[in-house]
Amino acid sequence: MRILLINGPNINMLGLREPEIYGDKTYDDLIEYVSSFALSQGIQLTVFQSNHEGELVDEIQRAFKTQDGIVINPAAYTHTSIAILDALKAVGLPAVEVHISDVSKREAYRQISYVSDYCEKRIQGLGFEGYIEAIKHLMAR
Ligand code: DQA
Repeated sequence: MRILLINGPNINMLGLREPEIYGDKTYDDLIEYVSSFALSQGIQLTVFQSNHEGELVDEIQRAFKTQDGIVINPAAYTHTSIAILDALKAVGLPAVEVHISDVSKREAYRQISYVSDYCEKRIQGLGFEGYIEAIKHLMAR
Protein backbone atom coordinates (compact mmCIF):
# COMPACT_ATOMS: atom_id res chain seq x y z
CA MET A 1 0.00 0.00 0.00
CA ARG A 2 1.22 3.50 -0.89
CA ILE A 3 0.37 6.40 1.39
CA LEU A 4 1.12 10.10 1.03
CA LEU A 5 1.75 11.85 4.35
CA ILE A 6 1.29 15.55 3.88
CA ASN A 7 1.81 18.30 6.45
CA GLY A 8 1.04 21.98 6.06
CA PRO A 9 2.54 25.26 7.30
CA ASN A 10 4.62 25.47 10.47
CA ILE A 11 4.59 21.71 11.07
CA ASN A 12 8.31 21.91 10.21
CA MET A 13 8.61 24.06 13.37
CA LEU A 14 7.47 21.31 15.72
CA GLY A 15 9.58 21.23 18.87
CA LEU A 16 10.04 25.00 18.73
CA ARG A 17 6.51 26.22 18.17
CA GLU A 18 4.16 26.39 21.15
CA PRO A 19 5.50 23.25 22.86
CA GLU A 20 2.70 23.47 25.44
CA ILE A 21 0.29 22.71 22.57
CA TYR A 22 2.32 20.63 20.13
CA GLY A 23 4.93 19.01 22.39
CA ASP A 24 8.72 19.17 22.32
CA LYS A 25 9.38 16.62 19.58
CA THR A 26 10.56 17.88 16.20
CA TYR A 27 9.25 17.38 12.67
CA ASP A 28 12.15 14.97 12.05
CA ASP A 29 11.06 12.99 15.13
CA LEU A 30 7.54 12.85 13.70
CA ILE A 31 8.73 11.59 10.33
CA GLU A 32 11.02 9.00 11.92
CA TYR A 33 8.16 7.77 14.13
CA VAL A 34 5.60 7.50 11.34
CA SER A 35 8.10 6.12 8.80
CA SER A 36 9.22 3.33 11.10
CA PHE A 37 5.60 2.32 11.72
CA ALA A 38 4.92 2.38 7.96
CA LEU A 39 8.01 0.28 7.29
CA SER A 40 6.92 -2.29 9.89
CA GLN A 41 3.58 -2.59 8.06
CA GLY A 42 5.09 -2.83 4.58
CA ILE A 43 3.67 0.55 3.60
CA GLN A 44 5.42 2.73 1.04
CA LEU A 45 5.25 6.18 2.66
CA THR A 46 5.83 9.40 0.74
CA VAL A 47 6.45 12.36 3.03
CA PHE A 48 5.81 15.99 2.10
CA GLN A 49 5.67 19.24 4.07
CA SER A 50 5.21 22.76 2.77
CA ASN A 51 4.37 26.20 4.07
CA HIS A 52 2.77 27.08 0.72
CA GLU A 53 -0.81 26.31 -0.20
CA GLY A 54 -0.12 25.82 -3.93
CA GLU A 55 2.69 23.36 -3.24
CA LEU A 56 0.32 21.32 -1.07
CA VAL A 57 -2.23 21.36 -3.90
CA ASP A 58 0.48 20.26 -6.39
CA GLU A 59 1.54 17.39 -4.17
CA ILE A 60 -2.04 16.19 -3.68
CA GLN A 61 -2.51 16.26 -7.45
CA ARG A 62 0.67 14.18 -7.89
CA ALA A 63 -0.97 11.50 -5.72
CA PHE A 64 -3.49 10.79 -8.48
CA LYS A 65 -2.89 7.19 -9.58
CA THR A 66 0.44 7.08 -7.74
CA GLN A 67 -0.86 6.67 -4.16
CA ASP A 68 -3.55 4.57 -2.49
CA GLY A 69 -4.41 6.98 0.32
CA ILE A 70 -3.58 10.31 1.91
CA VAL A 71 -2.93 11.29 5.52
CA ILE A 72 -3.11 15.07 5.77
CA ASN A 73 -2.55 17.67 8.44
CA PRO A 74 -3.24 20.87 6.50
CA ALA A 75 -2.36 22.87 9.67
CA ALA A 76 -3.69 26.45 9.42
CA TYR A 77 -4.92 25.80 5.87
CA THR A 78 -7.46 23.44 7.43
CA HIS A 79 -9.46 26.50 8.37
CA THR A 80 -9.06 28.51 5.17
CA SER A 81 -8.32 26.41 2.11
CA ILE A 82 -11.02 25.44 -0.34
CA ALA A 83 -8.17 24.80 -2.82
CA ILE A 84 -6.83 21.93 -0.71
CA LEU A 85 -10.34 20.52 -0.29
CA ASP A 86 -10.88 20.69 -4.05
CA ALA A 87 -7.54 18.97 -4.74
CA LEU A 88 -8.51 16.10 -2.42
CA LYS A 89 -11.86 15.80 -4.18
CA ALA A 90 -10.15 15.89 -7.58
CA VAL A 91 -7.79 12.98 -6.90
CA GLY A 92 -10.55 11.01 -5.16
CA LEU A 93 -8.28 8.98 -2.87
CA PRO A 94 -9.31 7.91 0.63
CA ALA A 95 -8.02 10.58 2.98
CA VAL A 96 -7.76 11.06 6.73
CA GLU A 97 -7.40 14.46 8.42
CA VAL A 98 -5.03 14.61 11.39
CA HIS A 99 -4.39 17.32 13.98
CA ILE A 100 -1.78 17.02 16.69
CA SER A 101 -3.78 19.23 19.07
CA ASP A 102 -7.45 18.94 19.94
CA VAL A 103 -8.70 21.64 17.61
CA SER A 104 -12.28 21.26 18.89
CA LYS A 105 -11.20 22.72 22.24
CA ARG A 106 -9.31 25.66 20.75
CA GLU A 107 -10.14 29.09 19.28
CA ALA A 108 -13.38 29.79 17.42
CA TYR A 109 -11.45 30.48 14.19
CA ARG A 110 -10.16 26.89 14.23
CA GLN A 111 -13.64 25.36 14.33
CA ILE A 112 -14.07 25.33 10.56
CA SER A 113 -12.36 22.56 8.63
CA TYR A 114 -12.81 22.62 4.88
CA VAL A 115 -11.02 19.30 4.32
CA SER A 116 -13.46 17.60 6.72
CA ASP A 117 -15.99 17.93 3.96
CA TYR A 118 -14.03 15.27 2.05
CA CYS A 119 -11.89 13.32 4.53
CA GLU A 120 -13.50 10.12 5.73
CA LYS A 121 -12.07 10.45 9.22
CA ARG A 122 -10.77 13.22 11.47
CA ILE A 123 -8.30 12.47 14.25
CA GLN A 124 -7.33 15.21 16.67
CA GLY A 125 -5.62 15.63 20.01
CA LEU A 126 -3.65 12.39 19.93
CA GLY A 127 -0.28 13.98 19.19
CA PHE A 128 1.95 11.97 16.85
CA GLU A 129 -0.17 8.88 17.54
CA GLY A 130 -2.93 10.42 15.44
CA TYR A 131 -0.85 9.87 12.29
CA ILE A 132 -0.45 6.18 13.16
CA GLU A 133 -4.21 5.88 13.75
CA ALA A 134 -4.80 7.49 10.36
CA ILE A 135 -2.55 4.97 8.60
CA LYS A 136 -4.27 2.12 10.45
CA HIS A 137 -7.63 3.43 9.24
CA LEU A 138 -6.44 3.46 5.63
CA MET A 139 -5.00 -0.04 6.02
CA ALA A 140 -8.24 -1.40 7.50
CA ARG A 141 -10.64 -0.06 4.93
C1 DQA B 1 -2.93 21.83 13.72
C2 DQA B 1 -4.06 22.73 14.27
C3 DQA B 1 -4.22 23.98 13.41
O1 DQA B 1 -5.28 24.78 13.91
C4 DQA B 1 -2.95 24.79 13.45
O2 DQA B 1 -3.06 25.91 12.60
C5 DQA B 1 -1.73 23.99 13.12
C6 DQA B 1 -1.63 22.62 13.60
C7 DQA B 1 -2.65 20.63 14.63
O3 DQA B 1 -1.96 19.73 14.16
O4 DQA B 1 -3.08 20.58 15.79
O5 DQA B 1 -0.78 24.50 12.55
O6 DQA B 1 -3.33 21.35 12.46
